[in-house]
Amino acid sequence: MSFRIVSKEGLVGSVTLGVVFVAGYFIGRKKSSIMSISKSHLGGKDNPLLQYVVNHSMREHPVLKKLKLRTMEDSWNGMMVASEESQLLANLAKLIKAKKAIEIGVYTGYNTLNMALALPEDGVVIACDISEEYTNIGKPFWKEAGIEKKIDLRIQPALKTLDDLLSSGQAETFDFIFIDADKVNYDNYYEKSLQLLRKGGIIAIDNVLWGGKVLNPSPDDADTVAIDKLNKKLHRDTRINLSMLTVGDGVTLAIKL
Ligand SMILES: C[S@@+](CC[C@H](N)C(=O)[O-])C[C@H]1O[C@@H](n2cnc3c(N)ncnc32)[C@H](O)[C@@H]1O
Ligand SMILES: *[C@@H]1O[C@H](CO)[C@@H](O)[C@H](O)[C@H]1NC(C)=O
Ligand SMILES: *[C@@H]1O[C@H](CO)[C@@H](O)[C@H](O)[C@H]1NC(C)=O
Repeated sequence: MSFRIVSKEGLVGSVTLGVVFVAGYFIGRKKSSIMSISKSHLGGKDNPLLQYVVNHSMREHPVLKKLKLRTMEDSWNGMMVASEESQLLANLAKLIKAKKAIEIGVYTGYNTLNMALALPEDGVVIACDISEEYTNIGKPFWKEAGIEKKIDLRIQPALKTLDDLLSSGQAETFDFIFIDADKVNYDNYYEKSLQLLRKGGIIAIDNVLWGGKVLNPSPDDADTVAIDKLNKKLHRDTRINLSMLTVGDGVTLAIKL
């Protein structure tokens, strides 16, 4: 089984894990221990069950499909959100009638595009990234899908953009926020997002399983430590209700109470 690790600098490394077979107590029985849940655009071919899920649920907008193909040509495509996860988030955004959304970490803008498609005509996605290079890949596709006017791209550290939104009086006005940028800032993004979110709004936090590394965080691995720490904090956070889902690299949904 193989999975990819995205560091806070956006570097993608590849780690291959042997599938661990634990000998069962019963003769002739084997129990496999699943260390990572893959994204369909990375490990789909080695995972028939994930392929089945994709075959029986994906309804990708044609421009999303094109953007995914274009992103697969980029060396950092391991950073792209899993399509099956993105579709879930778009469904949730519609369900809660979201109008205002924030994407923290855009990359080539697959989820930003999907979110914009899910929002009404007067909806807006505040799209936060520090890279012109990555986000420029997505822009022509946003235009082609006819939703570019719903996307407000801000190229600067996401913390700065969240502070700008707070200081311009937009606290408690957002419906949906996706946290998917540098992991060491996850807790900061979460705290500011909670302030920006309305009651009943959703924060989706990506990569909460971090390729299985959360099971045994190494103290000198700042990304894993940050993710594990936030996972533990969310579990006892009485400001939210939550679900931790094993889709993609793991996503936690936090609903503001
Ligand atoms: C995992 S990717 C985002 C994937 C994206 N959500 C998608 O739909 O495919 C992480 C992105 O976070 C950006 N990033 C890293 N540090 C950041 C920061 N401090 N502020 C804003 N964006 C940052 C990187 O440039 C990269 O594009
Ligand atoms: C999924 O669809 C592909 C393409 O049609 C097909 O090759 C594959 O066998 C399917 N796999 C499953 C498990 O449904
Ligand atoms: C939050 O979860 C609790 C159960 O843990 C439930 O009683 C409550 O209704 C939930 N609140 C919302 C807004 O979903």
